[in-house]
Amino acid sequence: MRILITGGAGFIGSAVVRKAIKEGHTIKNIDKLTYAACLESLDSICDHPNYSFEKIDVCNRDDLIDCFNRFKPDAIMHLAAESHVDRSIDAPSTFIYTNIIGTYEILEASRHFWKKEGQPESFRFHHISTDEVYGSLGATGLFTEKTPYDPKSPYSASKASSDHLVRAWHETYGLPIVLTNCSNNYGPFHFPEKLIPVVIIKAISGEKIPIYGTGDNIRDWLYVEDHADALLSVIKDGEIGRSYNIGGKNEATNLELVQKICVLLDNLQPQKTPYADQITFVTDRPGHDQRYAIDPSRIINELNWKPSVTLDEGLRKTVLWYLENKDWWKALQDREGVGSRLGKI
Ligand SMILES: NC(=O)c1ccc[n+]([C@@H]2O[C@H](COP(=O)([O-])OP(=O)(O)OC[C@H]3O[C@@H](n4cnc5c(N)ncnc54)[C@H](O)[C@@H]3O)[C@@H](O)[C@H]2O)c1
Repeated sequence: MRILITGGAGFIGSAVVRKAIKEGHTIKNIDKLTYAACLESLDSICDHPNYSFEKIDVCNRDDLIDCFNRFKPDAIMHLAAESHVDRSIDAPSTFIYTNIIGTYEILEASRHFWKKEGQPESFRFHHISTDEVYGSLGATGLFTEKTPYDPKSPYSASKASSDHLVRAWHETYGLPIVLTNCSNNYGPFHFPEKLIPVVIIKAISGEKIPIYGTGDNIRDWLYVEDHADALLSVIKDGEIGRSYNIGGKNEATNLELVQKICVLLDNLQPQKTPYADQITFVTDRPGHDQRYAIDPSRIINELNWKPSVTLDEGLRKTVLWYLENKDWWKALQDREGVGSRLGKI
């Protein structure tokens, strides 16, 4: 397939680009290159003849239409977004522009292109979203595709808005869309402001390891390469107009997760004292959702997808990757806001 991927210089987008190239697809990566972008994450495939990149803002419809007309995609995978909840608390406006207006602009550009090409049935617009649109769970229950939307942060509200726009463009204009909502991802090339890289980097730098509140918030973790695999299954075989929840059935409290990382570091890079001694509890995030957990039955049963690694295996791979790729994350530490506490109001 000829797939146009937005946000391909980000954490998940770069994993999708690397995997799609390996599978033989032709990829156009478009990305605005914000603070969260890292083209070095694509070093392994950037010279491949099936890969090309253009710096484009998804809010610029003319640039999108021009790019679509030249590349002629069979499918669009829309990952470009502002993605850090703490930043959405401090400065929501970029989240509104990129996540809502940007999605509107790319939907319109896609509709224009699809119509011009004779409305091919095989065309797909795949919107990549988050389980955070469903809000927060109590001690029991799982998010299914039928769970009502109840976003709580500016980030999740902007993603929920974009999901509604995507569904409306299908219902109103017939645009052939598929939609996915995934749980928290982790793995190599994760930007060093998100929980898991922050923990690894602070731990090996001898600094305090911050945990929000009491560390009892629960997340359902999925290895990023398993997410990329699921997304490529959906773009190939997903049913038009349908949404798929993606998750690894790997629930852990933030404290359990951090303790697991500390034990891995104790084994892989021992120091005099256990890394867990560096754990410190800090003021909680405002509106911090208590628990996310995904029921991935639909994608497992209908598209035959399943995660390839457990949380313990994926965390081990991730910790090893950060120990072996210090140049990658050290180069990102000077970027604005990285390393400081954000989102406290
Ligand atoms: N990280 C997660 O755990 C997770 C889980 C579920 C869903 N998602 C969704 O997956 C997508 C990718 O997430 P991520 O973690 O890779 O994000 P990221 O922040 O690592 O990457 C986002 C990329 O989008 C680009 N971008 C931002 N604004 C843009 C604009 N206006 N025009 C073009 N490009 C722009 C950035 O430069 C960056 O390369 C997002 O839509 C996010 O909501 C993320």
